[in-house]
This record gives sequence, structure tokens and C-alpha cells, in this order.
Amino acid sequence: MSIIARIVTATVLLSATACVDAELPSETAGLAGETSDADGSSDDGADDDAGDPPPSETPPTDGGPLASWLADGNYLAWAAESDVHASTGPHGSAGVRTFVNAKLFDSLAAGSDEHPVGAATVKELYGSSGVTGYAVLVKVEAGRGSTRWYWYERVGSTTYADGIDERLCTGCHAPGADQILTPYPLQ
Ligand code: HEC
Repeated sequence: MSIIARIVTATVLLSATACVDAELPSETAGLAGETSDADGSSDDGADDDAGDPPPSETPPTDGGPLASWLADGNYLAWAAESDVHASTGPHGSAGVRTFVNAKLFDSLAAGSDEHPVGAATVKELYGSSGVTGYAVLVKVEAGRGSTRWYWYERVGSTTYADGIDERLCTGCHAPGADQILTPYPLQ
């Protein structure tokens, strides 16, 4: 993608997150539709058993399967911020809530500046009537830096990032501890 196209895309991302409220009805319908699709294909009843181990710890790193994985709520058993709060970045017009899997939680708790392969975070992006999208980071290769992470963001039916080292995302995240900006302990 050219530099100009990237700047245009970045502008769309920022304005789209600001305009989420106006588009809520169709987006909500889209997310709800995915939920029932995903439920239909994995209806083994396991979700009803309180004693089950937490669902798969590392999300898929491909937009299609990841959208279903998110809609299924697989990340909901992870450690999470206690409540929705305003983003200090461009995420979520009505706030955000970040979840981290056990590998990332332990690494943040240890104050590490390099997170292990399999570390992952899901950020719920809120509009005025609830979750309208998700931002996801998954560590896919040992070492530090944006090229070692899979980046994903989708709001409503628009996907803004779905790949390794997505330039739309990496500038802001570079100052983080191996790209992670969320403060620890989780707020
Ligand atoms: C303009 C700056 C900026 C851009 C661009 C940006 N982010 Fe973020 N992001 C933040 C900030 C700041 C946080 C910390 C939590 C908060 O305040 O929202 C964050 C938090 C996150 C989190 C929670 C884990 C963490 O690092 O704290 C994820 C996941 C995330 N961003 C994904 C993305 C993805 C994917 C993109 C590209 C589509 C992206 N971000 C683009 C600023 C940015």
C-alpha cells in the first residue's frame, strides 16, 4: 500500500471510531449474526459447564476465524480490566476494556519487555450500546518489536488490520513494553 493510501486509511480508522455511534444499528446486527453462525458450528454444550478449563488461550491469527472466535467470547475467561474506560488512544468511541491471556498477564506481572510467543490481548471497543468492535494483538515470533506481532482491528463490518506488523497500528504502539501500552496492574 502506498504512503498516501496508508494515511487515508489511518484517517478513516480515526474518523470511523469517532462515528461508530451513528452506525450502531447495522453494526450490532452484523455482530449478532456472526455470534449465531459461530454458535451453530460449535454447539457441543461445553460452554454450559462451569468446571470446563478456560477456552483456547491463543486466538486464531486470521481475520475470518478470529471474528468467530471473538463473537464466541473465548477471551471472556481471561484476566481483564475491571470496567470499560475511556481510551487514551483512538480506540472505541464510548470506551474500551482490555483482556489479557495468562501468558501476557504473567509477562506483564514480571515487568518483562519481551513477551513470549502465544501472549495475546483482546480489547473490546465500545459504542453507545455496547461492543462494536475488537482490537487484538498476538505474539507470533520470539524477539521484540512490531514484526513479531499479529495485529487485528475490526469495527462493525470494517476490518482495519489483519496481519503482521500492520503499519496503521505500530507507530503508536512502538513505545509500549514490547508494543503493549495497557498499564499493569490492570486498571
Ligand atoms: C493513535 C495511537 C494508536 C493507534 C494508531 C493504535 N493504537 Fe492500539 N492502543 C493505543 C493506546 C494509547 C492503548 C492503551 C489503552 C488505551 O488507552 O486505549 C492501545 C491499546 C491497544 C490494545 C490493548 C493492548 C495494549 O497494547 O495495551 C490493543 C490490542 C490495540 N491497542 C490494538 C491496536 C491495533 C490492532 C491497531 C491498528 C489497527 C492500533 N491498536 C492502533 C493507541 C493506539
